[in-house]
Amino acid sequence: MSVLPLRLGVNVDQVATLRNARGGRNPDPVRAALTAIEAGADGITAHLREDRRHIREEDMARLKATISKPLNFEMAATAEMLGLALATEPHAVCLVPERREELTTEGGLDVVGQHNALKPFIAQLNDAGIRVSLFIAAEPAQIEMAAQLHAPVIEIHTGAWCDAVTDGHAAKAEAEWQRIVAGSRLARAAGLEVHAGHGLDYVTAEKISGLGEIVELNIGYYMMGEALFVGLGESVRTMRAAMDRGRQRVAATA
Ligand code: PXP
Repeated sequence: MSVLPLRLGVNVDQVATLRNARGGRNPDPVRAALTAIEAGADGITAHLREDRRHIREEDMARLKATISKPLNFEMAATAEMLGLALATEPHAVCLVPERREELTTEGGLDVVGQHNALKPFIAQLNDAGIRVSLFIAAEPAQIEMAAQLHAPVIEIHTGAWCDAVTDGHAAKAEAEWQRIVAGSRLARAAGLEVHAGHGLDYVTAEKISGLGEIVELNIGYYMMGEALFVGLGESVRTMRAAMDRGRQRVAATA
């Protein structure tokens, strides 16, 4: 069995958060994207939130115009965002749930509950040649509905697993991990491309890279934090190395 390559998408939202804290132009998320690509990122991810708390429209336009790697546009499934995505023409759109009061994207998209609204949304993005992914928990019903809606990709929300690992809740971490393992296998068997992300650090990224069904990880916050100490190029290279170590385990067991 051949091992599928594993891509690293670098999320630059938190660079924009820092920039916005002073309202000026620095640090520039586009410069961060270029640095990340030079250090080995396979793509750049940015989330245009309804409240524009980090990335703004002009950031998306500049990213699209400047970077040489695929742009993954994270957004809520709203008419405003659909219009912006169709105008920006990113390589990919990742549909995420969004609540104004949350600190970050706290749960997965409820594809089962919102399938009627999501169906035409996904169809329009598919028709525009934009690869759609749905950011969901690794729950069988959500995965099966994603396949029924003809979304080509799902991104599994790894936040609950990463929190449990970080907090030392071993039993919860193991239960969440088993959900991710089963969910990624089910999704692959249903013909979906499987991505994962949220809350990953070097340790959890290495472990999840050992799941051969997953072909892309989207990672931001932890790498940006590390970048304060070692520089962004170095934190991206260290993440890439952790992923490569994890991926070798797939090769060893294939
Ligand atoms: N994937 C999705 C869909 C996200 O919403 C986020 C956070 O914006 C990430 C990945 C990256 O998560 P983190 O910044 O915690 O690495």
